[in-house]
Amino acid sequence: MAFEKICTLDDVWEGDMEMFATSDGTDVLVIYAQGGELKAFQSMCPHQEFELIEGTLEDNVLTCRAHLWQFDVRDGCGINPSDCNLAIYPTKIEGDEVYVDIDGIEPFKSHT
Ligand code: FES
Repeated sequence: MAFEKICTLDDVWEGDMEMFATSDGTDVLVIYAQGGELKAFQSMCPHQEFELIEGTLEDNVLTCRAHLWQFDVRDGCGINPSDCNLAIYPTKIEGDEVYVDIDGIEPFKSHT
């Protein structure tokens, strides 16, 4: 697979997140960090695979609603706990269209 259009810049405002599906049905969490960049992440929490879209996003910190694990949405690194992170899918923006390439990238799964 290669880059495919997943959304437009109008779909995700700065400081916000939305979930989209690729053509093969893979869910991708698109997050536009406050003062940062738009990135595409794995959609499921690496802890016990709850959907991260159901969490909260505040000050560039994504908190999973299930057990409150937290991630920095500027780089996907775990904050609490710090020994985990989110997989990031390559993105590119052409005009107002957002493209993502999920090929070869597996979502992280962490300890339970
Ligand atoms: S499933 Fe996300 S913190 Fe447990």
